[in-house]
Amino acid sequence: MHLARFPRRFLAHLPTPLERLDRLSAELGGPEIWIKRDDCTGLSTGGNKTRKLEFLMAEAEMQGADMVMTQGATQSNHARQTAAFAAKMGLACHILLEDRTGSNDANYNNNGNVLLDHLHGATTEKRPGGGDMNAEMEAVADRFRAEGRKVYTIPGGGSNPTGALGYVNCAFEMLGQFNERGLRVDHIIHATGSAGTQAGLITGLKAMNAGIPLLGIGVRAPRAKQEENVFNLAVATAEKLGCAGVVDRADVVANTEYVGEGYGIPTEGGMQAIAMFAELEAILLDPVYSAKGAAGFIDLIRKGHFKKGERVVFLHTGGAAALFGYDQAFDFAGRWQAAG
Ligand SMILES: Cc1ncc(COP(=O)(O)O)c(C=O)c1O
Repeated sequence: MHLARFPRRFLAHLPTPLERLDRLSAELGGPEIWIKRDDCTGLSTGGNKTRKLEFLMAEAEMQGADMVMTQGATQSNHARQTAAFAAKMGLACHILLEDRTGSNDANYNNNGNVLLDHLHGATTEKRPGGGDMNAEMEAVADRFRAEGRKVYTIPGGGSNPTGALGYVNCAFEMLGQFNERGLRVDHIIHATGSAGTQAGLITGLKAMNAGIPLLGIGVRAPRAKQEENVFNLAVATAEKLGCAGVVDRADVVANTEYVGEGYGIPTEGGMQAIAMFAELEAILLDPVYSAKGAAGFIDLIRKGHFKKGERVVFLHTGGAAALFGYDQAFDFAGRWQAAG
């Protein structure tokens, strides 16, 4: 497999660190916990979208775009990383923000990722929740095209086969780190949403015959839908890479029991996870994605799904910029100790 065949803009800070979390491992008394720091990919506080954008934005450049468009929820990390990447490349950026939560909170609507979108010079438009956002985006892109702009559109979350190459690359990078450091890894776990992270990872892991099971913790869709989305994208990514058929349906596993009331609505378990990671390891999670992923991970450790003697890597997909849009959700002093 030869990723250098694909156009790529090398702007992410790679490789990201791989670190052992001693205090969290001791607190939970289960497996040895490691963290892959994709919250440190650079460009405006980092996160998983930066890896995808290395391939997407190179494609935009190849196609002669002078503007990129994307869409996401109000506090979308993907939107913010796209705005940052576009700023770095000198491209205009326009973003459609979907109101998926109905929150009227001023910080939710203007601070955190939204503040950074605008700081990077992106323009934004709002849409009510529940519409076909990719179709809305194409309609707006056509408006700009009619005015003479060369617009490259990026689907929500950067999740198409081009974007997923960023996580094929992450699978290579992680396996290299495990091998160099003599780490036998039993599981990798992460938050899964628009599917590109999990699809790219499973394609890369299977193509290398890594033999490491991957578990996605869902943040939005029910399990069958989430697994179908990931599998379909993995199939298309493998085809793009020239290794069609490398991913089996059984390789794609999502646990969607930690979504709570819905996308973007913080959960008790997620807020406890934020407190634990911050107080024990000085690591910042976000309430929408990485905290729900970590909440699932912590609960599965407590239920014995991941055991003492095993080594598990939590892929931190970023998102901490959203904390400043969710300050109203923080009222957790001492909560995780009480619950633990
Ligand atoms: C912080 C964070 N974690 C996880 C994800 C989920 O990744 P994916 O959309 O590739 O499934 C996202 C997506 O927006 C994210 O912003």
